Amino acid sequence: MKNITVIGVGYVGLVTGACFSDLGNRVIALDINEERIQNLAKGIMPIYEPGLAELVERNVRAGRLVFTTSYDEAIKDAEFVFIAVGTPEGVDGEADLQYVRMAAESVANVMDHPLIIINKSTVPVGTGDWVADIVRETQPSPVEFAVVSCPEFLREGSAIRDFMNPDRTVLGSEDTTAAERVAQLHLPLRAPIMVTDLRTAEMIKYASNAFLATRISFINEIANICEALGADVKEVARGMGYDKRIGHHFLEAGVGYGGSCFPKDVKALAHMAQVHGKHPQLLHAVMDINAYQRRHVLLKLHEHLDGLEGRTIALLGLAFKQDTDDMREAPSITIGDYLDEHGATVRGYDPAAMEWAKRAMPYLETAADPYELVKGADAVIVLTPWNEFKNLDMDRIKNAMRVPVMVDGRNLYDPAQMKAHGFTYSGIGRGD
Ligand code: UDX
Repeated sequence: MKNITVIGVGYVGLVTGACFSDLGNRVIALDINEERIQNLAKGIMPIYEPGLAELVERNVRAGRLVFTTSYDEAIKDAEFVFIAVGTPEGVDGEADLQYVRMAAESVANVMDHPLIIINKSTVPVGTGDWVADIVRETQPSPVEFAVVSCPEFLREGSAIRDFMNPDRTVLGSEDTTAAERVAQLHLPLRAPIMVTDLRTAEMIKYASNAFLATRISFINEIANICEALGADVKEVARGMGYDKRIGHHFLEAGVGYGGSCFPKDVKALAHMAQVHGKHPQLLHAVMDINAYQRRHVLLKLHEHLDGLEGRTIALLGLAFKQDTDDMREAPSITIGDYLDEHGATVRGYDPAAMEWAKRAMPYLETAADPYELVKGADAVIVLTPWNEFKNLDMDRIKNAMRVPVMVDGRNLYDPAQMKAHGFTYSGIGRGD
C-alpha cells in the first residue's frame, strides 16, 4: 500500500485517485474548489462517468480515499503526488499551464520530505523540466524530489475501464529510480510499462491523440469522397479494418471529433511545432477537415430544406460523444449556433448532457425524449451515437415530424431502411 496524492479532482484526477485507491493504496485527492470537495464528501460526483460514483463510495467507505482542499493535509504523508489539473487551450492553441504552475508551487511550499511528482495532465513537451524548475525555485529550503511524466489515455465514458485495463503505461523521467517506483504502482494493472525520458513520454501522449484524430479526419475525408463516387464509407472502413495494420477502431465517419482532448491536443502539438520552426501540414489538415464536417452536415440540411427561418430543427444527441455529459467542443454547439443565427428554432435531447447543453446553448428548446424532440420538427440531425438511439420506433418518429428529414451525423441508421420508413435521409459518406 502506498500513500498517493492527486491534485485536481476532475475527469482525470478523480478517476486516477479512485482507481489507485481501489488497488489498495491510500489516496488523498485535493482540489481548490471547495464546493467540489464538499459535494464529493456527500457522494455527489463533479462529472458524469459510468461507475464512478460507486467506485468512489466504496473506497471512501473503506477509508482508502479522502478528499481535501488543504495542501498541508494532502502532502504531509504523500510518497507520490500526481498533478492532474486542467491544461485548457490558451492563446494560439498553446496549452495554458497556469494550474500546473499553481499546483507545483503549492506542493513545493509545503513539502518537507522527498516526493515523486508525477505529471498526469496532458502537458506540452518540456513541461516536466519546467515543473522541476518551479519546484526547485519555490521550495523554502531544498527538499529532494523527482518529476515523472505519466500521461493518461482515458476515454470519457470508459475511463475506469481504460485505467484498469490500459494498453500500456508510459513513464518518463530523468530519474530512472523514480520512474521504477511509479512503475511499481502500476504493476497490478498487468499491462506493458514503458520507461523513457520525460520529453519522449510527453510526446507519446500528443502523438497518440494526434494520430487518433488523424484517423478520424482521414475516414471523414474518405467519406466525403465516397459521397461523390457512390461508395459506402461504413463498408469501406469495414474492409480496411481487416488489415491488421489498420484495424477497425477509430474509423467511424461522421460530424467529426469534439471533447476536451483531441481539439486541444492537436492544436497544442501544431503550436509546439510552429514555434520551433516546423510546418505541421498534416495536423492543420486534420483540424481543417474536422471543422468542415460540421459544415458538411449543415450543407446536407440545406439540401433538404428550403431555408431555415421559422423552421424547427431537432438535435438528437448533444454531448461530444456517447456515455458522457461533456459538451466541450461538441459539434452540437457549432451546429446549434448556426441554426439559431439563421432563424431556426433549435430543440435538443441528450440522455446526460441536457444541463450542460442549456448552459452552452441558451437558445436551446429542450425535450424529455427523442419522440417529444421531433414533434412538429422540420428535420432531425443525429449528433451523438447513444445506444438508446439505435432502436427507436422510426414510424413514430416520422409521423411526429412536420417534414421527415434526417441528417444522420453519426451514420447510426441504415439508409435503405430509413428511406423505406419514408424519411428524406442523408448519412455521411453513405454513397448518397
Ligand atoms: C480521447 C482519447 O481516445 C483518449 O485516449 C485520451 O486520453 C483523451 O482523448 P475522448 O476524447 O474521451 O478520449 O473520447 P474518444 O472516444 O477518443 O472520442 C473523441 C471524439 O472522436 C468524440 O467526439 C468521438 O465522437 C469522435 N470519434 C471517435 C469519431 O468521430 N470517430 C471515431 O471513429 C472515434
